[in-house]
Amino acid sequence: MHTPTQTMASTLLFLLLTATTAIASPNIIHLLRPHSGSGGHKHSNLNCLSWRLAVETNNLQKWTQVPQACEDYIGHYMLGKQYRRDCDLVAAEAYEYAKALNLTGDGKDVWVFDIDETTLSNLPYYARDTVAFGAIPFNSTAFNAWVVEATAPAIPGSLKLYKKLLKLGLKIVFLTGSEEIYMEARVKNLKAVGYTTWEKLIMKGVGEGSGVVYKSKKRKELEEGGYRIRGNMGDQWSDLLGSNAGDRTFKVPDPMYYIG
Ligand SMILES: *[C@@H]1O[C@H](CO)[C@@H](O)[C@H](O)[C@H]1NC(C)=O
Ligand SMILES: *[C@@H]1O[C@H](CO)[C@@H](O)[C@H](O)[C@H]1NC(C)=O
Ligand SMILES: [Mg+2]
Repeated sequence: MHTPTQTMASTLLFLLLTATTAIASPNIIHLLRPHSGSGGHKHSNLNCLSWRLAVETNNLQKWTQVPQACEDYIGHYMLGKQYRRDCDLVAAEAYEYAKALNLTGDGKDVWVFDIDETTLSNLPYYARDTVAFGAIPFNSTAFNAWVVEATAPAIPGSLKLYKKLLKLGLKIVFLTGSEEIYMEARVKNLKAVGYTTWEKLIMKGVGEGSGVVYKSKKRKELEEGGYRIRGNMGDQWSDLLGSNAGDRTFKVPDPMYYIG
C-alpha cells in the first residue's frame, strides 16, 4: 500500500527522470515524434535501403506509393549511378545465360521483354515534381499523356542485351500491360531508341485483366503457338510469376511503383 505522500514522491521522481532523460538523450526526443507517415502507415525508423531491398525481393507487396520519407533516397538512386549499374549487371547475367543456350534455329526460341522500366525508362516522367519518383499517387491521365509523347529513353543495359540476343538468334517478344490504344506511340518510341525489330509486340486489349493473370495468359498463348520462352525479363514480379514464366527470369530494379 502506498501512502499519498509516497505516491506523490514517486510521481515527482518519475517526472524528473523523464524530463532529465529527454534532455540528455536526443533519441528519446526522436522517439516522441509521430510514428506514421503517408497514408498513416507506420514507418518508425524506416530505413529506405531496407525498404528498397524488400521491394526488389518481393517481400513487400501491394504497396501503393513510395513512402514520403524515401522520396529523396529513391530519387538519388534512380538518377545516380547505382540504378544504371544494377540494370547493367542484370543484363550481363542474362547474356551469360543466353549465350550458353542450345538454340534450335527453328525461330521458336524467344526472349520475353516487358516494356516500361525494363526496356524503356519512364524516369523523365517520374522525376517530375508532380510525380516525385512515385511518392505522389499515380495519375493515369498525366502518365498516359507522357506515353503518347513517345519520348521515353531506352534502358542502356537492356538495349545492349536486346541487340546481343538478336545476334544469338533469339526472337524478341515485347509483352506489356500498356493498352492497345497506345500501339502507335509505343512502336514509335521503341524504334526511335533502337528496338527496331521484334517477333511480337503484345499489348493489352479491353477487359484482359492485369498483372500476373494477363501476363500468364499471354505467355501461355505464346507457348501454345509453339514458341519456347527461354528467358523472361521484367521490372515487376507480376512479369515473372504465374504460369509459363519461361526457362529463366530476370528482375530489373524498380522502386518507383508496384503492379500486382
Ligand atoms: C541441343 O539441342 C538438340 C535439339 O534439341 C539436342 O539434340 C542436343 O542434344 C542438345 N545439345 C545439348 C548440348 O544440350
Ligand atoms: C492529373 O494530371 C492531369 C494532367 O496533367 C491534371 O490535369 C490533373 O490535375 C492531375 N490530377 C491530380 C489529382 O493531380
Ligand atoms: Mg514494367
